[in-house]
Amino acid sequence: MEKKNINWSELSFAYIPTDYRFVSHYKDGKWDEGKLISDPECKMSESAGVLQYAQTCFEGLKAYTQKNGRIVTFRPDLNAERLISSCRRLLIPEVSKEVFLKAVDETVRANAAYVPPYGTGATLYIRPFVYGSGAVIGVSPAPEYEFRVFVTPVGPYFKGGIKPLKITVSDYDRAAPNGTGNIKAGLNYAMSLYAGYEAKKNGYSENLYLDAATRTKVEETGGANFLFITNDKKVVTPKSSTILPSITRRSLVYVAEHYLGLEVEEREVYFDELSDFAECGLCGTAAVISPVGQIDYRGGSIQFKSGMEEMGPVTAKLRKTLTGIQNGDIEAPSGWIREIC
Ligand code: PLP
Ligand code: COI
Repeated sequence: MEKKNINWSELSFAYIPTDYRFVSHYKDGKWDEGKLISDPECKMSESAGVLQYAQTCFEGLKAYTQKNGRIVTFRPDLNAERLISSCRRLLIPEVSKEVFLKAVDETVRANAAYVPPYGTGATLYIRPFVYGSGAVIGVSPAPEYEFRVFVTPVGPYFKGGIKPLKITVSDYDRAAPNGTGNIKAGLNYAMSLYAGYEAKKNGYSENLYLDAATRTKVEETGGANFLFITNDKKVVTPKSSTILPSITRRSLVYVAEHYLGLEVEEREVYFDELSDFAECGLCGTAAVISPVGQIDYRGGSIQFKSGMEEMGPVTAKLRKTLTGIQNGDIEAPSGWIREIC
């Protein structure tokens, strides 16, 4: 298969339409079998549940070309499970794990020419999503839905690749206690746009959100969970019922413990203790693990020892091991890698 003529190493995190997407419809109480189509446009009622009341949720995962040329995905079963939990909370009919995995496999396989080659640093981002396509006008779940999977080749999420980031503490809250912070609902991102716009306008790459109830604890950023490293190389990551359960974070915790022999603490992390940490990273599918050098807040600034020039040594080891597993350079734990073609 001939690859598309793309300058892989210059890609940013932006949407490029590819040749095929998977689409399945839910009507009269059931999902149809679904199929690959070439039309990138969605057609729906002007009163669709997604348009009127934001009834939609999504996932994000990646396909990688390994050294031996195999195209694989990373722990897609966990994305399938998380999409099910998002659907339940939004009263969207669940997409079964089997259909999710089949849809992802088929979409990646059909777009194999867009999967960046090994060693380019780029990957194929996979975006499965479900939305209420049927008409509603009272506030209620839509009668019809569409499940889609599209893919797009991407480079680094943050401009500058893996240079340490400067982030700021948001004055806005991301997730209410007992709200939707722990699912991947589109509405969580719509409400973060203004906060993100303000952060970028002021020269920051991202927002750190505090817990909405007390504004004393670190939650996550708009698109990634946090990992902190103590001076004695312990990994600390915030535990909260209102953050997205990141698959990258869960994988890095395993990597830290089982590959690097590091101690890991998953616990509430108070904003006041951040200046005690030596390193800070943002982890997620898009972010991989992106180092943070500085966090500014009203009236102050925290500078991590790792500085603004390069990522800290523990963050670098975590990143190298995780990407090594994804790229097939390091043996993966059983069940983490799914071969597509
Ligand atoms: N937190 C938020 C709010 C996200 O949008 C994401 C991205 O998916 C993550 C964390 C990281 O999750 P994952 O590692 O599963 O991609
Ligand atoms: C991902 O990492 O897959 C996400 O969905 C985060 C988003 C901000 C791009």
